[in-house]
Amino acid sequence: MHKLTIFEKLTKLIKNSEASSSNFLVSSIVIDKNKKEYQGVNVEYQIPTNGICAERNAISTAITNSMKIGDLEEVHVFARNLNNINENSFTPPCGVCRQVIYEVSNGKAKVFLYNSKGEVKKYLIQELLPMAFEGVEK
Ligand code: THU
Repeated sequence: MHKLTIFEKLTKLIKNSEASSSNFLVSSIVIDKNKKEYQGVNVEYQIPTNGICAERNAISTAITNSMKIGDLEEVHVFARNLNNINENSFTPPCGVCRQVIYEVSNGKAKVFLYNSKGEVKKYLIQELLPMAFEGVEK
């Protein structure tokens, strides 16, 4: 049986995105240190500020399913702008998601961005969020 690639899973998952305000669909799969995968899509509501990004939705699902803070290893992101389809473009995580990814991976996550052709670019969260807020010393 053919095992789906992460890109194939992201392509399937993005169909669940609820983005009727922006028409900007996003799917994300995060992977923890035990190689377990968790999925998320962006969800928009009538009140714009109530929405959630795909990456943070996937991370919340991971935590709901018992992933611990510090155990996040990989974040995979795929997006499609239905208002302006460009199969070459990559979508990097927003600033809030970068901070969350940083915190939940102890600054170690790898972030993989996919375009519609399935091409991938890889970054470290430390490159995407230099000088991150590291929390309050205890
Ligand atoms: N969005 C994400 O889900 N992840 C990103 O990395 C960038 C933006 C969502 C938020 C909103 O639902 C839509 O994309 C447009 O900003």
